[in-house]
Amino acid sequence: MRFGSLNLKSNLFLSPLAGYTNLPFRLTLREIGGLDLATTDLVNARSLLEKNPKALKLIETCPADRPLAVQLFGSVPEEMRDAAAYLESIGIASVDINMGCPVRKVVKVGGGSAMMTELDKTAALVKGMVNAVKIPVTAKMRLGWDDANLTAPDLARVLEEVGVAAIFVHGRTREQGFAGTVNLAGIRKVVEAVKAVPVIGNGDVISPEAAKKMFDETGCAGVSIGRGAFYDPWIFKRTLEYLNRWGETPSSPDFFPRHGADHGSTESRPTHVLPPEPPFDERIRVMCRHLDLMIEVFGEEHGCRMFRKVAPWYSKRFGPANEFNKRIVHLSSKAEFDEILAGYKNWRAQFLDDSGELLPRYQLAPMIASFMQEPDAIRRKHIPVPKGPVEVW
Ligand SMILES: Cc1cc2nc3c(=O)[nH]c(=O)nc-3n(C[C@H](O)[C@H](O)[C@H](O)COP(=O)(O)O)c2cc1C
Repeated sequence: MRFGSLNLKSNLFLSPLAGYTNLPFRLTLREIGGLDLATTDLVNARSLLEKNPKALKLIETCPADRPLAVQLFGSVPEEMRDAAAYLESIGIASVDINMGCPVRKVVKVGGGSAMMTELDKTAALVKGMVNAVKIPVTAKMRLGWDDANLTAPDLARVLEEVGVAAIFVHGRTREQGFAGTVNLAGIRKVVEAVKAVPVIGNGDVISPEAAKKMFDETGCAGVSIGRGAFYDPWIFKRTLEYLNRWGETPSSPDFFPRHGADHGSTESRPTHVLPPEPPFDERIRVMCRHLDLMIEVFGEEHGCRMFRKVAPWYSKRFGPANEFNKRIVHLSSKAEFDEILAGYKNWRAQFLDDSGELLPRYQLAPMIASFMQEPDAIRRKHIPVPKGPVEVW
């Protein structure tokens, strides 16, 4: 698919996740495959122009991390324009604008939310950015304030007129926060509101089936995945395979590369159109790789400290993991990680059968997206949201 002049190899995208979508995470995902354009955490345009070290760290990248979009946050047109031009000058492929949500009296100042309340002002700001760069400028929004004010279709129309190259829509209102279900019909209205610009659906896609349902029911041109990539860094690869081979059987038994003698479980699996979830050893391999990259980019101490909040996402799909979780939150060195992991593997053995698989009563139910569940089930359990400024997400 295309975003303006940018040709993309995948119509699956990594959503910005402040605190998580850093270089090590993006590289981890890219090495697995299925992802092309990935986005950074949101970056304050002014801080970037001031060359604030934290802002520069957020846009740190390398040749293996391409194509990369940087998400900008700000409300001053000149700053947003100059930040976009700066990003283009250093080889960033695309600039995304954080547009948050629409009610002025609730969302007091700043970019994000305020941008959806004043369409003319927003259009002028975006136009200034589009005119200043050749790279695509995209926008990310929610559906609106609440179900009575679903303003995203209007905003999308205006943004298309001023030349945005794509529109990302999280199918929830700001009032919803992260609760309730993703509104696929709401995303569809945005798709129908624009003439040709690609609309990328987003929200609660935590399985290949959920991505397919979002494509089918909204007509979106792409799907962007955030928290689903925490649970399942393989989700892009699995989803592409699922979509490309829809209607075919079977999926490749060698879907996961083999890394070690005890990594044979995929071969004995029955074949399905749906690529299998990764076996335990593959989860461990990728988690270790992710930590190594964290250490490379952030240094051992800081990288390990940051990994304290990353590792528990991996362990959510390990089966019983208390022993791992309670120790990993104090992680401070690579040697300690190796020791925690070895201890955990020994402890976990009690939950395995002779072939090394989790005993049936410890096996995890498949992941099911909010929009594929009954309302009661959604109330009982929704995807955890890490702490942070929900109002700008
Ligand atoms: C921890 C966290 C950080 C987020 N940071 C950002 C951000 O920096 N910019 C943004 O536009 N959205 C942000 N979001 C929203 C996500 O990009 C995405 O729209 C939302 O999580 C729904 O998609 P998902 O269900 O696939 O996670 C964040 C969400 C979470 C959970």
